[in-house]
Amino acid sequence: LATANGKLYFGTATDQPGTGEDTDIIYQKILNNTHIFGQVTPANGMKGMNTEPELGVFNYTMGDVVVNIAQDHNKILRCHNLIWSTQQPEWLTSENYTWTRETLLPVMENHIKTIITHWADVCHAWDVVNEAFASNGSSSASPWLDIIGPDYLPLAFQYAHEAVQATGKDIDLYYNDYGIESPGNKTNAVYQLVRDLQAQGIQIAVGLEAHFTVLDPNTYANQAAVMSGLQDLGVTFALTELDVRFPTLPPNATYSYEAQAYRYWESVSACMQYSKCEGITVWDFEDKYSWIPETFEGQGEADLYNSDYSRKPAYYAVAEAL
Ligand code: XIL
Repeated sequence: LATANGKLYFGTATDQPGTGEDTDIIYQKILNNTHIFGQVTPANGMKGMNTEPELGVFNYTMGDVVVNIAQDHNKILRCHNLIWSTQQPEWLTSENYTWTRETLLPVMENHIKTIITHWADVCHAWDVVNEAFASNGSSSASPWLDIIGPDYLPLAFQYAHEAVQATGKDIDLYYNDYGIESPGNKTNAVYQLVRDLQAQGIQIAVGLEAHFTVLDPNTYANQAAVMSGLQDLGVTFALTELDVRFPTLPPNATYSYEAQAYRYWESVSACMQYSKCEGITVWDFEDKYSWIPETFEGQGEADLYNSDYSRKPAYYAVAEAL
């Protein structure tokens, strides 16, 4: 439905669970089915702690698990992510290294360029920098910020741009964040980053993570407002990590799967309205493997499928919106 209606993909993040002793054939079947998911993102395999575990020593094993899914089942691959504040290599924050701006910049450049070059044939897009702005629009805390200063962010895109130019490939370079699904200071900071880089001749793309709760209001109107701003700037964008969790409920309150379905419908519908919204990725599809309960205590049931693989109303709402 997504590709028939002008999008490049509808996809999912995965760590490919259920292939070891915990065999989960149904998960594999749904994940691999190109008619359900035309795109995949490694949920963890390409993060810094896994790709450059020792300084200057690169490891592609975990990332390749999802590269192989994409290749074996004819799916688009979004690569995620190069520079972030967490899940970074230990050497970045280890006391064994006394980093300065001068010593860390070439290391950041090498990290970005080596990994982009290595997977240049398979990555449709890269999340180059993840979650670099705070809700007030200033820089969010990060070791890269502490050591290099705020220009680590545009510099990361410059290095990524140079790497892509050298490969001659067409790889979209994304700034990816949450909390930019509605207008505000953080969203304005992203618009400004886009303009600053455009002035340097570097066109970036923007990922709206889209981690919602069933209680979030006006998610269609808010996303449409942001998307309209991005479209005016001429940039490509995508919903990169869509899920809709049930928050901890107040006593006696119940929220329905229909309310959740409506939230999914609003996000997908907003993306469908804008030609520069190239695709939609859910952050895994089955409640058993969702990242939500680990990160947000007492919350969950955020995905399209129940843990027994029955489809929630949200599944059908997505299909309707596409
Ligand atoms: C999450 C993974 O899904 C978890 O397995 C991991 O423990 C933490 O990170 N925003 C992002 C993703 O950009 O990389 C995060 O993924 C979810 C929030």
